[in-house]
Amino acid sequence: MGTKFEGFPNVIYAQQFSRIFLEKYFLPLTDEMQVLFENRGCELLRGKRMISFFYQPSTRTRMSFEMAMDYLGGKVVFSTENAREFSSGAKGETLMDTINVINRYRPDVIVIRYDHKIGAELAAKVSHVPIINAGDRKPGQHPTQALLDWRTIFKHRGEIDGLKIAMVGDLDKGRTVRSLSYLLGKFKGVKIYFVSPPNTRMGSDVKRYLRRHNVEFTESTDLRKIAPLVDVVYQTRAQTECGTIINRKHGYFIVDKTILDLMRTDAIIMHPLPRVDEITVEVDSDPRAVYLTKQIDSGLFTRMALLKMILSPKS
Ligand code: CP
Repeated sequence: MGTKFEGFPNVIYAQQFSRIFLEKYFLPLTDEMQVLFENRGCELLRGKRMISFFYQPSTRTRMSFEMAMDYLGGKVVFSTENAREFSSGAKGETLMDTINVINRYRPDVIVIRYDHKIGAELAAKVSHVPIINAGDRKPGQHPTQALLDWRTIFKHRGEIDGLKIAMVGDLDKGRTVRSLSYLLGKFKGVKIYFVSPPNTRMGSDVKRYLRRHNVEFTESTDLRKIAPLVDVVYQTRAQTECGTIINRKHGYFIVDKTILDLMRTDAIIMHPLPRVDEITVEVDSDPRAVYLTKQIDSGLFTRMALLKMILSPKS
């Protein structure tokens, strides 16, 4: 396997990435991408064309993929964040037909965020062009977010083994925590503390996977009890567009000054964003808060590395 991941060149699930691939190949490549970024880019992907086709809104994922393509000298030839309205999806065209048609234009990669099922998996079945999953629904994965979260944690701790992480909020619908859980299952001695009200607990599919991979986890409702124990507090928002409500009467799920005071000085606070009110703004200036800084940077370097690997594997 080595320099390639399972299922290469499609990126559909977080489970595709092995520990060896992540540590030995992917991490150094993201560091190389950081250097290229600091030098304001290169022409490595000159002549390569990307289509970013999003059926759901996005700020970070779409922009960072598009900026990544630009920093590497490639082109984004078509981009929408509302393909349901601004493509023939609005007239009832199926995803399969859309992907077949896009393939005829011979782009080099398609980045897709789909609003039902695992759209990227369906797309990859018919596409001759690499497909990258930029987030989907049911059961929900966001593999490139997991990669950037993994990098953020690795850069902070220097390793993943022995990590203690609290995942907080909407664990049922939040695809980032699902993908990150799958990725952490590749490492040793990881302990995950799921903190959520009863209606947004982590799915049984992820919990079964964690048991199979000997990842210890607990489920509870009070972040105040968990905050002192962990290296990472990973907060998520309620996916209100899917009908989720985080009822604060059922426990303590907010990251605020109370939680800051309880956390270890060497811990970090992460959030995939967008943030609504589940992290109070007073937390932003704490040095442990990385969701508006290092986590964002990791997103760009991670997506540059993926595009480089998929579109120019030999250079
Ligand atoms: N983290 C994330 O997926 O953000 P966007 O929805 O803005 O892409």
